[in-house]
Amino acid sequence: MAPNSTVSSDTPDRQWWKEAVAYQIYPRSFNDSNGDGIGDIRGITEKVDYLDSLGIDVVWLCPVYQSPQADNGYDISDYRSIDEQFGTMADWEALLEALHAHDMRLLMDLVVNHTSDEHEWFQRSRRGDDAYKDYYYWRDGGEDEHGNPTPPNNWGSFMGGSAWTYDELREQWYLHLYDEKQPDLNWRNPDVRDEIASLVEWWLEKGIDGFRLDAIHVISKPEGLPNGTTDKKPIGSEEFSHGPRVHDYLRELYDRTFANYDVVTVGEMGETTVDIASEYLGEEGDGLDMLFHFEHMDIDVGPRGRWDPEGGGEWSLPEFKRIMSRWQTQLEGWNAQYLGNHDQPRIVSRFGNDGTYRGESAKLLATFLLTTHGTPFVYQGEEIGMTNAEFESLDELDDPMMIGAVEDYLAAGKADSPEELREFWNTQSRDHARTPMQWSDDEHAGFTDGKPWFPVNENYRDINVEAARDDEGSVWHHYRELINFRHDEDALVYGEYSLLLPDHEQVYAYTRVLGDDRLLIVLNWSEDPATIDLGRTEVDFDFTDLSVCLSNYEETATESDELLFRPYEAAIYRY
Ligand code: GLC
Ligand code: CA
Repeated sequence: MAPNSTVSSDTPDRQWWKEAVAYQIYPRSFNDSNGDGIGDIRGITEKVDYLDSLGIDVVWLCPVYQSPQADNGYDISDYRSIDEQFGTMADWEALLEALHAHDMRLLMDLVVNHTSDEHEWFQRSRRGDDAYKDYYYWRDGGEDEHGNPTPPNNWGSFMGGSAWTYDELREQWYLHLYDEKQPDLNWRNPDVRDEIASLVEWWLEKGIDGFRLDAIHVISKPEGLPNGTTDKKPIGSEEFSHGPRVHDYLRELYDRTFANYDVVTVGEMGETTVDIASEYLGEEGDGLDMLFHFEHMDIDVGPRGRWDPEGGGEWSLPEFKRIMSRWQTQLEGWNAQYLGNHDQPRIVSRFGNDGTYRGESAKLLATFLLTTHGTPFVYQGEEIGMTNAEFESLDELDDPMMIGAVEDYLAAGKADSPEELREFWNTQSRDHARTPMQWSDDEHAGFTDGKPWFPVNENYRDINVEAARDDEGSVWHHYRELINFRHDEDALVYGEYSLLLPDHEQVYAYTRVLGDDRLLIVLNWSEDPATIDLGRTEVDFDFTDLSVCLSNYEETATESDELLFRPYEAAIYRY
């Protein structure tokens, strides 16, 4: 493989998961089947036909395991059972069967950096039970000059505050990079690694098709747990990201489990550059198939990171193109493409225009997602262009990360009232992704017959699946056409990506080429008209001979040197 190209053009290394389009489900907010206001597994099974009609091949299901729900299921108290809020193991088996019957595959979420503090391992560990006492990071703390107890180091939690909590029973502090109800597992302990391998094996034996690996870059902590030395939030992240043994642990887990099955693995990895990613995914890597990096998610956050209210909000298209193109052309391995997920604001509000050009810009984002290199992950609601919500006060939020960030800021004396940070949460809160799926214009958007656990976005009467399916020109139909098109065009999956016009402020244009198959994608990523002069790009093709394959406007320009693009116009051409 040539070092600078992601695939050799003529003989692609075919894999089902490279050709698939994935759809992420946040079960709590997807579809409620029993009227208790919480989305559930039967609710998902009811929508399998829906997913099939959109053209989806793979579902990634966020956690449905038994959990006290301190972080909506990312705090697991039993890895081998289903939380009763979501249903039963029989419901889950029926979902798997229904998906497989429709030729769709299922990825589960593997959350093994931490467990819930209510997990039996932690309960035994805090009691000092011999077999479990080293399952977590327990340390003695210190004292400040007034004799008050202080935590073992200065690491901060992603949920705000210290990453350490004192446990009265064990009389020691335990580490939690996330909520205090999410103690970090000690992967140095071989018994912990055995437990994890065994639960992975258990799910693989049930016939799932892979895992998304939660927060997998932070599983290995450095010897001595040294203090963080930068002001990046959370403090210490340069110490606990990509720790010294992370590759050994992943390789070991792969060899013991995934290697023996036809499954796919996708790691979630903050703090990851293309070079770091290539170490995980490349020939010498750990067997991991793909990873979700955050470089494009960090484009509009402040210098101290996402959870710092200061300095975020702006982003520029040339910078976005540079980031994405680096991944498109330099990664040793396969990309996982996404613009949004359950931890991010809604894509049309963040990267598009959720006012006048909501439809056009949602279609443009879809075009980008589905025509670049890498397996596309569509997050629930993106296919109808769902938008951010408006939260008036802190009480309306549910997300512990955003609430923690606001509390930290208040505690540091940087704001007098939470309301001063209203704009911050209205742009960044994870809650925007968690308002219920908008199925129809019925009460509560058809999500539930009861009272939804989290309010439905007020715009559901206009933006909902039923209306979108009835309208041939909708965002939903555009997604469906793009997905079908990707399925038919190997060039979109395996073709080489080349960026055109890197410095253009409004237009993102690139080609995907596989043998004689040549596609040009032009996206006017702005609310103003844009002209581009294709004659002045490096690429050798005849721009008078463009044929339009798909576009989000009628009558897309094909026949002049200077092509004029309307606001958020997005077109795919063959040339
Ligand atoms: C990942 C999940 C997020 C969760 C965190 C802790 O980032 O995507 O939702 O809060 O890990 O498990
Ligand atoms: Ca329910």
